[in-house]
Amino acid sequence: MGKKELTAQCLIPVRLIYLAGANVDGKPNFIEIASGGILSYGPPMFAVPIRHHHHTLKGILENWTFSVNVPSVELAKEADYCGTVSGANTDKVRDCDFKISYGKLETAPMIDQFPITMECSVIQILRTDVHSVVIGRVDGTYISEELLKEGKPDFDSLAPLLYFAQKGEYFTAGQSVGKARSIGNELKKS
Ligand SMILES: Cc1cc2nc3c(=O)[nH]c(=O)nc-3n(C[C@H](O)[C@H](O)[C@H](O)COP(=O)(O)O)c2cc1C
Repeated sequence: MGKKELTAQCLIPVRLIYLAGANVDGKPNFIEIASGGILSYGPPMFAVPIRHHHHTLKGILENWTFSVNVPSVELAKEADYCGTVSGANTDKVRDCDFKISYGKLETAPMIDQFPITMECSVIQILRTDVHSVVIGRVDGTYISEELLKEGKPDFDSLAPLLYFAQKGEYFTAGQSVGKARSIGNELKKS
């Protein structure tokens, strides 16, 4: 397949949507994010790239804590709303009717309606021209009881909210294409 070089960019077509949350001047606020993600499993760490001017970043810098809230497709409207208006001008928690809880960090607001939430403490912030890449350690992980099977996370019933960047559209996961660490085995030389 012939390829054409484009301007250098992070050309990843599909991304998982999540909301990052922080208390800004003592009030919970949430920003929709479709970049960054898992940085490490041990310790569990996230990298969340946030444009310098966003309201949520102000709260992260105030408390050095934030939350990661993973929606299901049923929460697409609320997620999109949090990605189109700023907490500097409106109360997104009120507008979306979010119920808020705090965990052990006490200043990282988590949304009760979101099936998976994590509270994080900031380890470092990497400043690029456009983003403050907030690097956080996950200090608490919470999952709704409906997603537990025999005490373990079971995601069969979770329709994740994905973002198709080039189309500017949300969608959810399609069909399975094979078992990980298995379908590639046939290419292994015996
Ligand atoms: C699909 C989608 C993905 C987004 N991803 C990011 C992102 O990764 N980083 C970022 O800084 N802003 C991102 N935004 C923009 C912010 O969510 C948006 O500007 C938001 O209103 C900022 O809220 P705040 O000012 O209350 O913090 C995204 C918006 C949408 C619609």
